[in-house]
Amino acid sequence: MPHLLHLDSSADPRTSASREVTAAFVRGWRDRGAEFTVASRDLQADPPPHLPDAALHWTPRLRTPDEVVDPAADAQQHVYLDELLAADVLLVGAPMYNWSLPSTLKAWLDHVHVLGATVPFGDYEARPLAGRHAVIVSSRGASYDAGGEQASWDHTVPPLELVLGRSFGMTVSVITLQLTLADRVPAMADLRERAAAEADAARNFAEELAERIVP
Ligand SMILES: Cc1cc2nc3c(=O)[nH]c(=O)nc-3n(C[C@H](O)[C@H](O)[C@H](O)COP(=O)(O)O)c2cc1C
Repeated sequence: MPHLLHLDSSADPRTSASREVTAAFVRGWRDRGAEFTVASRDLQADPPPHLPDAALHWTPRLRTPDEVVDPAADAQQHVYLDELLAADVLLVGAPMYNWSLPSTLKAWLDHVHVLGATVPFGDYEARPLAGRHAVIVSSRGASYDAGGEQASWDHTVPPLELVLGRSFGMTVSVITLQLTLADRVPAMADLRERAAAEADAARNFAEELAERIVP
């Protein structure tokens, strides 16, 4: 059964642009039939703790003898890992907060990027997530167009691409929504039309991608 893990991390319960687009993706996925199942995790409503122990970066057999981990922390990490490993497709709502990731999403990443488990290390060459799809929905108030002066300020998508793509070997697609603050910031008033068009395009693309992505 094709299974989707859907993560949201926006702290905006009212008008979140990323949540709207992840919801469109989930709609498209569910439309494919009852066998297309979904697990949703709201990282804002139920935030992961900050990584409580650096030893969790290593799978148990790679830990040093003094790296004894609190069993509750181990169990918590396994909840996130098991959920991720059960997914054929990962969908991540990733707003830009201070040019980077919401801390809740960063905490989730810190729990699942595990050497010797999700990432190869030494004679452990397995990459259990390799070849699976990840879809990142990146919402940002301003614009960071490729080639523009501010393009290099985006520290939201690059770390996700590194962890999900480079480390896990997933095939990563990015859906970007820019200028989401145009309605709110008077100085951006002349960008409202473009922002609305980008939001529509992102929603439509997400729904359409969900209908054709090969799990
Ligand atoms: C704490 C915080 C920090 C933000 N930092 C930035 C930023 O660095 N650059 C930017 O373009 N927008 C920034 N924004 C605006 C958000 O990226 C924008 O509102 C986006 O739409 C949030 O995603 P959401 O609509 O899904 O909640 C910030 C918003 C918040 C709440």
